[in-house]
Amino acid sequence: MARNFNINIKEHKMEVMGTNIIKANGINVSYSDNGEGTYPIIFIHGFPFNKSAWKPQIDMLKKTNRVITYDIRGFGDSETNNENTSITLFAHDLLKFMDALEIKKAILCGLSMGGYILLEAVSLYPHRFKGLILCDTQCIADTPEAKEKRLKTIKQIEKNGSEEFAKGFLESAFCKESYTSKKRLIEKLYKEIIALPPTIITNTLLALAQRTEKCTILKDIMLPVLIICGKEDKITPIDRSEFLFSNIEHSSLKIISDAGHLSNLEQPEEFNKCVNTFITAVLK
Ligand code: MLT
Repeated sequence: MARNFNINIKEHKMEVMGTNIIKANGINVSYSDNGEGTYPIIFIHGFPFNKSAWKPQIDMLKKTNRVITYDIRGFGDSETNNENTSITLFAHDLLKFMDALEIKKAILCGLSMGGYILLEAVSLYPHRFKGLILCDTQCIADTPEAKEKRLKTIKQIEKNGSEEFAKGFLESAFCKESYTSKKRLIEKLYKEIIALPPTIITNTLLALAQRTEKCTILKDIMLPVLIICGKEDKITPIDRSEFLFSNIEHSSLKIISDAGHLSNLEQPEEFNKCVNTFITAVLK
């Protein structure tokens, strides 16, 4: 039985110039898979980025662990098939991706939208996770004002394209200090955002606006959880992380100084240290 499954995996897994592609939930998913370990650590990027946003973490952790990151459907090099996008669909994609790679249980790390996906996935399939890292994220749904703002942004992108959105988003995502000191990184991220088909951005904005709250499930999470937040995060401010911390039983909270919403890219060393300590404890 297991042997047949392996053969099937080989059939739908391809390696295209160093990028791995695997069919999961009806689409080709682009991912990277490095290092070795009993429980893999899977990273889920935020909106509107792609798996390359985890490079500093992969580079460090692959020496001692199996680390996987993938492009959410429609982002980076992963396909989409234009159905209605939702955070629930992204959560199902994650589970099908784990199935396709024959991963029964993993430690998961999600940033912002990656965290929304993770909270959704853990509410559906808690037995598939060994530990969670929730970065710069929250459990609440959008307020009516936040929904309104997203709808305005959608209209603006439909009219003028995504340049203005990309500039504004990056300006609010980074803290003041890293916004001036990390020009090359910001340029790279800007290019990635404007290279996305605008409909991917607008469909995902709609999915974000329509997501449901996950605060009511926090009490049921019995896994070890690390919560990380940039001290100057303006998109998901610290109080959202403090709420997660007070409501998840086995959780710890790390606040990263001199970082905004993209704490893993703004302070990679400090971020990696927190992640490494957590993973070592979970795997002990
Ligand atoms: C993200 O970083 O994934 C987004 O900012 C999430 C959001 O806008 O709610």
